[in-house]
Amino acid sequence: MADHFDSIDDVQRRLGEVGYICGRGLATVVFLSLKLGRPIFLEGEAGVGKTEIAKAIAALLGRKLIRLQCYEGLDAASAVYEWNYAAQMVEIRMAEATGGGGGNRDAIAADVFSEKHLIERPLLEAMRPQPGGAPVLLIDEIDRADEPFEAFLLEALSDFQVTIPEIGVVKAPAPPIVVVTSNRTREVHDALKRRCLYHWVDYPGFEREMEILRAKAPEVSETLSREVAAFIQRLRGEDLFKNPGVAETLDWAKALVALDAVALDPQTISDSLGALLKYQDDIAKLQGSEANRILDEARQDLSGRSTEARGRT
Ligand SMILES: Nc1ncnc2c1ncn2[C@@H]1O[C@H](COP(=O)(O)OP(=O)(O)OP(=O)(O)O)[C@@H](O)[C@H]1O
Ligand SMILES: [Mg+2]
Repeated sequence: MADHFDSIDDVQRRLGEVGYICGRGLATVVFLSLKLGRPIFLEGEAGVGKTEIAKAIAALLGRKLIRLQCYEGLDAASAVYEWNYAAQMVEIRMAEATGGGGGNRDAIAADVFSEKHLIERPLLEAMRPQPGGAPVLLIDEIDRADEPFEAFLLEALSDFQVTIPEIGVVKAPAPPIVVVTSNRTREVHDALKRRCLYHWVDYPGFEREMEILRAKAPEVSETLSREVAAFIQRLRGEDLFKNPGVAETLDWAKALVALDAVALDPQTISDSLGALLKYQDDIAKLQGSEANRILDEARQDLSGRSTEARGRT
């Protein structure tokens, strides 16, 4: 595979240019994956940017993004290809009515099982030549699919070809760039992991979350963003049922702007909690004095940061 990037720093910088802010760990995995032609396997909590990285790589390299969303009961047919039975039936009826195919059964069969009646699903699509080069294939939330599908996937990813009995073998001219994600609702099999480069996507720290806010929610003022980021950092240390991810940080900051807030205060926090927390128990926990305490702690963190910054200059 051609070299797309000069260095890990180059990956990090250029992902930043398309609005994806990542640490060196993830940038290294992306760099190696492109260099070695190996799939990336990402695990992490919800809303930390697993799906987004595939979109960012596709945008950066000018490749098509093909997404296979996994779910319970997903089978090979829905992932690779299906025949359009309704259209095939029409074709057969037409042939019967018009005496088409010269009454030749083989000719009719060939026509019925030809590409025009093939419904391409993501894995087959990813093996077709695409303008701009091999596509980015995102296999999202693999942990939701059943284990037999995982085994099937393993095979598909090892040779990047599909056999359609009626048509023949479809082989990818160049292997797609594969990103597999999991929310870890179950352990994914070692055999699949072994083929991939693994990275655990963690919640970002304060500085990185600030950078993400600047990139993705530029309408939020620097002062408000700092308060939001510091509050969320503290919140993730609380014993919540579901910690807020980056998606919630962005949603909350935007909700605060929509409420004309210029800084955090207990009333505004309480009014906007629905953008931040999605479980009633967590929301109940944060009503009243708890929100005040966390806000106080977040402000102390911020003043600590300012003192530190002044100390450095
Ligand atoms: N590092 C990042 N840089 C820029 N934006 C980010 C980053 N991480 C997350 N985001 C933003 O957060 C949102 C959620 O990200 P994404 O959908 O990729 O999360 P996910 O890990 O796939 O979550 P889920 O497990 O719920 O599918 C997106 O809108 C994305 O733009
Ligand atoms: Mg996702």
